[in-house]
Amino acid sequence: MDIKDTTDLSWDEFDELRDPRPEENDFDKVVDAALSRRGFLGGVLAFGSGAVAFGSGLMGSTTAARAATSAFPFEPIGTATDFDIRVPKGYAWKPLVKLGQPLFAAAEGAYGADGVIAADKATMVFGENTDGMESYVVDGKQLITVNSEYVNPKINLPAASEGVPQSAEEVKLLQSLQGVTVMEIADTGAGYDVVLDSPYNRRITHNTQMTMDGPVAGTDLVKTKADPAGMSPIGTMNNCGSGRTLWNTYLTCEENFNGYFGASDENHARSDAEKRYGIGTKGRYAYEKFDPRYDIVNEPNEPHRHGWITEIDPSDPTSTPVKHSALGRFKHENAAMVQAKDGRVVVYMGDDERGEFMYKYVSNGTWAEGQPTDGLLSEGTLYVAKFNDDMTGEWLALTPDSTGMTEVEILVYARMAGSKVGATTMDRPEWIACNPLKAEAYCALTNNKNRGLKTNAGGDETPVGGPNPREANKYGQIVRWIPEGDDHGATGFAWDLYVMAGNPNVHSDAYAGSDNVTPGNMFNSPDGMVFDSKGWLWIQTDGNYKNEGDFEGMGNNQMLVGNTETGEIARFMTVPYGAEVTGLCFSADRKVAFVGVQHPGGSWPDGEGKPRSSVVQVWREDGGTIG
Ligand code: FEO
Ligand code: CA
Ligand code: CA
Repeated sequence: MDIKDTTDLSWDEFDELRDPRPEENDFDKVVDAALSRRGFLGGVLAFGSGAVAFGSGLMGSTTAARAATSAFPFEPIGTATDFDIRVPKGYAWKPLVKLGQPLFAAAEGAYGADGVIAADKATMVFGENTDGMESYVVDGKQLITVNSEYVNPKINLPAASEGVPQSAEEVKLLQSLQGVTVMEIADTGAGYDVVLDSPYNRRITHNTQMTMDGPVAGTDLVKTKADPAGMSPIGTMNNCGSGRTLWNTYLTCEENFNGYFGASDENHARSDAEKRYGIGTKGRYAYEKFDPRYDIVNEPNEPHRHGWITEIDPSDPTSTPVKHSALGRFKHENAAMVQAKDGRVVVYMGDDERGEFMYKYVSNGTWAEGQPTDGLLSEGTLYVAKFNDDMTGEWLALTPDSTGMTEVEILVYARMAGSKVGATTMDRPEWIACNPLKAEAYCALTNNKNRGLKTNAGGDETPVGGPNPREANKYGQIVRWIPEGDDHGATGFAWDLYVMAGNPNVHSDAYAGSDNVTPGNMFNSPDGMVFDSKGWLWIQTDGNYKNEGDFEGMGNNQMLVGNTETGEIARFMTVPYGAEVTGLCFSADRKVAFVGVQHPGGSWPDGEGKPRSSVVQVWREDGGTIG
């Protein structure tokens, strides 16, 4: 495999190129029987309310309340196919921060005319490919903490490098443009700007010193030559979605960390765990050639130090980020923290790969405002989700008894533990969001072309059914669940599908989507999801934007907003051709939404030169609140 040919691939395409899965054709194909298009938000919800009604009655109310009039204070917009951003009439937008923009005055001029960022200033500018973010108020200052998931070396490296690092310095440049940014922002009267040289401004990169806690910290699986104690990993990688703790710290979620590793011996025989986690012999950015810690022959345990949920305290720029091993190691999408009725801390998490699982962590200890947080993310139980076709489900505890693995193995190889207990293989779990107004949670299952056709990387079958009802699922769906007794600490739940994306212009079967998908709001590949303070569910897409074939009429990627009571979904924003929408947070007064635009095409937003991934700000021209 020539790495030059892989730089334009998505991460999942890159993984499958390195680890092709065999075809399997013996799965039951139950899509027609299980879920017809009529079923959703009509039959399925009604079926749910009859079969299982743990919760507060959501599953009956939705259908009856299907809105005749919109609940939203804007006129939904049409699709777009251009290199621009569109928002509804009465709203406006402009960039907040772009790739390469200085966070410190010393980095002025770092973004070169050729789009290449000065190597000695790269840790002082905003990184590339913005993703999950959260906003905070600290000592009266507004802060945003935001991920930079990965880089496009064709943008960031000198042209002579042809998109592949040619030296340790070029690897370092790429490493410096990824990770996390903490930045102070302020309303200048003409919109928000980054506050240059704020004492809170900070870049956290692939080379930032971290620490680790929980059962895995200090054990043999995470010891390396550079860190024989196994307590001090360096760097956080492929920071995808976000989360926030109840005590207002930031959770950054390490997703496709596997793609950064390679082997100096291309005949290196991979272990079962390396295969399950997609650790290969050629890394995506040739790190292993110039930075020996990414060479799995040299440092076989280095990959075990990544793929975690990492906590960052945005209020203290001198704090050391902490990797929380108790929450398990997999391709973390985001982290949705809520509380059980008894005060224990609950974190819902998805593992974004075809046929991987959904997880839940529950702390041993309890928390209340003002109490210490010690141990809450280091001592607890990891569960994995099993969905039943009767619209119930359960969280299965991953323990030495249930898996035959040690506690450390369960956490480092969580995927293998999940397979042992028979967890449900999902259609790529992306963001999970919890309704702030009631006990329910939503997970975007973005798509899965392998559903019903190929196993996951561990050989688990991916049967069509349950919350993954369509073979070769190209459009995605959003599953929601109500915990038993309205208690996120419970192990039982009832589930249904909030929406099944599809194209009613092209299809008349299940691929047309659920009843709340229409020619006027259709989309594919739901990914980012954030609830606002009103209980509206903002849905961001990362899908096919070619606007042809199965996707004709969907246009560019988009952000929609959903009313979870009525099922109504309305398109609010479209982003430039090529981009995905990812990351959403709000100003303290809720009058401005900050939205991430990742991997835009053309010359967006400058209108000339290379494209720059950016966070934009969106506001109502009448000064009203937006979220
Ligand atoms: Fe980084 Fe699964 O999105
Ligand atoms: Ca995502
Ligand atoms: Ca995605």
